[in-house]
Amino acid sequence: MQASADRALPTHPQCATPPGTPQVPALQLRTAMGSFATGVTVVTCGTDQGLFGFTANSFQCVSLEPPLVSFCLAKDAWSIAAFAGAAGYAVSVLAAGQQDLALRFSRRGGDKWAGVDYHVGHGGAPVLSDSIASFECSPVSAIEAGDHLIFLARVERVCHRELAQPLLFFRGQLSGASA
Ligand SMILES: Cc1cc2nc3c(=O)[nH]c(=O)nc-3n(C[C@H](O)[C@H](O)[C@H](O)COP(=O)(O)O)c2cc1C
Repeated sequence: MQASADRALPTHPQCATPPGTPQVPALQLRTAMGSFATGVTVVTCGTDQGLFGFTANSFQCVSLEPPLVSFCLAKDAWSIAAFAGAAGYAVSVLAAGQQDLALRFSRRGGDKWAGVDYHVGHGGAPVLSDSIASFECSPVSAIEAGDHLIFLARVERVCHRELAQPLLFFRGQLSGASA
């Protein structure tokens, strides 16, 4: 069938933002972003105040040469000052069976570390055991971006396990990958 110029194109049935909306509401953005399936990481640092970590799906590779990655942390996160002053970060990519760690590190503040297996990596940042990959990093810069800071970091060491299955995050749910 030929498109007719005088017939308006149908609005996408799932489009939640009417034309002219001055700013996409946060809940709509969050809900739509839920369709973008991601892996799940725990990003950590160690300072003289102790160990810090939070569950993150904002982890990205930014550059291969030089090796740069980024993650975003909410400015009102309990651990924001620790990450802003840390000498190193570790990003541990969670395996399908590590849902409990994803939930534990998504809770605000408190001691998240009791009973957690890790070793101390670059810059004092803890690397979680049994993760499917880890990236040990040095801080490069922290960039203001709305209600978050974007942390840009240089990768100093990587480890990965070929055959492990990832934990996934899709539409607000955590799940293991099926084969
Ligand atoms: C799957 C998943 C991904 C998340 N990704 C991020 C993220 O990229 N950045 C962020 O600031 N918070 C993210 N969160 C929320 C934080 O993990 C949560 O706010 C945590 O409490 C922050 O720790 P803190 O307040 O102790 O610093 C995510 C939560 C979940 C469950």
